[in-house]
Amino acid sequence: MSRRVWVLVGVLLAVLTITVVARGQADKRQQWASSKHANRELAREEATVEKRGETAAHCGRCHSEQGFLAWLPQLEKGNPGLITKPDGSPADVPYLAGLGLTRFSVRPVTCAACHKSDFSIRVTASTPVLPAGFRAIGVGLGAQCMTCHNTRNGAITWNAPDPRRYSAPHTAAQADVIMGKNAFFVPPAEAPISPHASFIGDACVTCHVRFNKESHTFKAATNVCTRCHGAEMNAGRVQGGMKTLLHEVEVAIAGKVLAARDRIAVVRNWDPQTGQYTDNVRVDPAQIASVELVEIAGQQGVKLNRRAGGAWYSQLGSVMDASNKPVFATADPIVRAGWNFWLIEGDDSFGVHNPRFARAVLLATLDALR
Ligand code: HEC
Ligand code: HEC
Ligand code: HEC
Ligand code: HEC
Ligand code: HEC
Repeated sequence: MSRRVWVLVGVLLAVLTITVVARGQADKRQQWASSKHANRELAREEATVEKRGETAAHCGRCHSEQGFLAWLPQLEKGNPGLITKPDGSPADVPYLAGLGLTRFSVRPVTCAACHKSDFSIRVTASTPVLPAGFRAIGVGLGAQCMTCHNTRNGAITWNAPDPRRYSAPHTAAQADVIMGKNAFFVPPAEAPISPHASFIGDACVTCHVRFNKESHTFKAATNVCTRCHGAEMNAGRVQGGMKTLLHEVEVAIAGKVLAARDRIAVVRNWDPQTGQYTDNVRVDPAQIASVELVEIAGQQGVKLNRRAGGAWYSQLGSVMDASNKPVFATADPIVRAGWNFWLIEGDDSFGVHNPRFARAVLLATLDALR
């Protein structure tokens, strides 16, 4: 009799446990589905052979489950570059299609991208050398996030006089910012690792997952600060000043472009609606009323607003003078300043991830533009 009762209790407990675990996973599934990690449209745009041909081997590394899982072992062996075939040769279209990087089978950042089959996290404690050219060491479960959330354009040298390119850092600049990496004008000794990377246990995961009631939306609340800093701290304290600084940097760069407008003769005009370019579009400098910064296909760019309405858009390297030379050489300080602007802007936390570093970068950038 009593044994039967115990068996029953055991069975009930087991059922309860399974139900609780299943319910927990169902909640997580729903939360995940509402997050941008579930954005299959972006995966189709950036990580399929139909849309990108062989460059699906580039973007597919972070924009799809299948690409990420094919790439991770290679990354761990020390090659953060594009997805290769097992023999190390560059992945071609049939190989990438075979991985599932096609319109019908591509998957976004799914459970399996972050979790092994027992739900443990794939990348922990430290990252291998990232596409952004550095390792993040001792960052707990945040290592998983940083594997994708980095600028992916190689390391930059802070005091290089000429970066020789007009690239913008990829918008996923969070790992670089929190680790204090890849900014111009700031010596490494003045570019601190954030205490939010090194002293809170799991970096990104602490604020965006663990201290988030709906963990798998991956959103950090603007009052998450209170968990560690007390009731008076909130994101606005850091973000207010940082938005002012960021705006000043944009105004300073735009001012330099405007000051050089008389030399602007021709641009390769970009259409933000279609993403298409028109070569050799003549520009009347007298028509340029104001300038804004834009990112165009991974490159720094400018929007030249016309007095009569409308605007010319161009990548910075395609803004040409009358003799068809770039108006702004890659050594022009505005190119390094522009990189720094997009680094802090792309990070998208307005300084929260690394308050001291973000300020140092923006202040040094303003100095360099004077
Ligand atoms: C190393 C990983 C990585 C690689 C490689 C990568 N991306 Fe991304 N990308 C990300 C992450 C992470 C985000 C999300 C960033 C955020 O929300 O701040 C993102 C966001 C984007 C967005 C959305 C931007 C927005 O503001 O909505 C676009 C578009 C994009 N990437 C295009 C590309 C293209 C095109 C390529 C290939 C040329 C590429 N990415 C390669 C990691 C990567
Ligand atoms: C972007 C990465 C990421 C994705 C995608 C993701 N998770 Fe998680 N998940 C995490 C992290 C990080 C934790 C650990 C949180 C902690 O330890 O506080 C976690 C924890 C869990 C746990 C608890 C595990 C344990 O050992 O306690 C479960 C269950 C889980 N996730 C299920 C899922 C399911 C189901 C999906 C897909 C619908 C999913 N996760 C998608 C990052 C992710
Ligand atoms: C496999 C690559 C990958 C990994 C790993 C990854 N992300 Fe992302 N993440 C992305 C991409 C791609 C996007 C952009 C999707 C979009 O814009 O549609 C993104 C978007 C985000 C966003 C914006 C979400 C929103 O809904 O607005 C946050 C926040 C974020 N990720 C946090 C994290 C955290 C925290 C981790 C680690 C637990 C993590 N990510 C791990 C690729 C990744
Ligand atoms: C100290 C807590 C904290 C840590 C650690 C942290 N974040 Fe954030 N993060 C925030 C807050 C707060 C915001 C701003 C949210 C807002 O303004 O609504 C933010 C903003 C973001 C955004 C843009 C806003 C969004 O939801 O789309 C992304 C993406 C992001 N973080 C990813 C990361 C990644 C990846 C890491 C690790 C490299 C990380 N965060 C580490 C607190 C944190
Ligand atoms: C998980 C704990 C934790 C959370 C959440 C957290 N912080 Fe911190 N923060 C720390 C630690 C630890 C330090 C370093 C010790 C100190 O200065 O108190 C720190 C330092 C800081 C600093 C000083 C930076 C420096 O380099 O000296 C600022 C500013 C800051 N946090 C703002 C915020 C804001 C704003 C939020 C919320 C959006 C936040 N923190 C959320 C743990 C946290």
